[in-house]
Amino acid sequence: MPCGRITGTGSGLPERVMTNADMEKLVDTSDQWIRERTGITQRHIASDEETTSSLAETAARNALSAAGLEPGDLDMIVMGTTTPDQLFPNAAVLLQSRLGIGGIPAFTLEAACTSFLYALSVADKFIRCGEARRILVVGAEKLSPLVDWTDRSTCVLFGDGAGAVVLEADDEPGVIATRLHADGQYRDLLYFPAGVGRNFPRVSDSRIQMKGNEVFRVAVKSLGEASRAILEDQGIGRDDIDWFIPHQANVRIIHATARKLDMPAERIVISVDQHGNTSAASIPLALDLAVRDGRIQRGQLLLMTSFGAGFTWGAALVRM
Ligand code: UT7
Repeated sequence: MPCGRITGTGSGLPERVMTNADMEKLVDTSDQWIRERTGITQRHIASDEETTSSLAETAARNALSAAGLEPGDLDMIVMGTTTPDQLFPNAAVLLQSRLGIGGIPAFTLEAACTSFLYALSVADKFIRCGEARRILVVGAEKLSPLVDWTDRSTCVLFGDGAGAVVLEADDEPGVIATRLHADGQYRDLLYFPAGVGRNFPRVSDSRIQMKGNEVFRVAVKSLGEASRAILEDQGIGRDDIDWFIPHQANVRIIHATARKLDMPAERIVISVDQHGNTSAASIPLALDLAVRDGRIQRGQLLLMTSFGAGFTWGAALVRM
């Protein structure tokens, strides 16, 4: 049975970089607080013209080029995002139109920061059942319009961006396994308070709400448990993992999770310092960073794990 193998990765980041010094001009914060409590030094913030689908297009074209493919070689697009340009057509269809490839299925999954792992898992299933051979999997977000730029406890955290991978059918894994979870009992700890069914007229006045401390605690527990479970399920030891690529929300969450797994610091990919928390884009952005700077090599084993609003969480084991 074939499974999905990542043959190309790509990023799409807004041009504008906001540093911690820029944040100091907006709210009562300091570069020192942000670096010590989150590990973030800068984030990219999209302009009015840059949207989730435009950032996704850049990431997609970079991933396709790395895979040596053209958009027309794809037979499916699966996108993870919480911040589509518009409610419909879905964000993957807007991306498809930007890539100029009509006809193939294109759909979007929303699982907050875990959206990319959900998308990767679903795409891999399509390859395993033989319905697709070349799938573009994207995680993309434009979170900045949802951020309360007067709330120092959240505005310093988030960034915009997109990451993409090309998943191709291969007899050798590839995506070895994925584990997905969700628990809606935590829906009030991290949420956006408006949508079609609630506060509809006030969508543009609404902002991200988060109880940071409580989210932090459950994040460390869930990321650790999902990672340990997928390793146990597959009979793979921590020492077999070449690179640990966790969701990039806060460097303290990353290190606390790594300690639970006994994962050495030198095997962790960290990009939250450069990108902030880009939700669905965080894992594919971190992956692309480490592929392009030469750390991640073909044949190496990756453990990815993510956590987000809902809560949703999960893990993936991927052979490059
Ligand atoms: O992607 C989905 C998941 N999201 C996350 O995983 C985020 C999880 N949570 C976190 O990363 C952290 O909880 C935060 C970074 C949000 C907050 O860090 P913390 O160490 O938990 O800080 P805290 O909320 O306990 O606040 C400590 C202090 C407070 O002051 P007092 O009450 O002790 O006087 C805050 O008002 O830090 C203050 N504070 C700030 N100070 C300067 C909060 N934000 C800031 C800020 N600059 N930006």
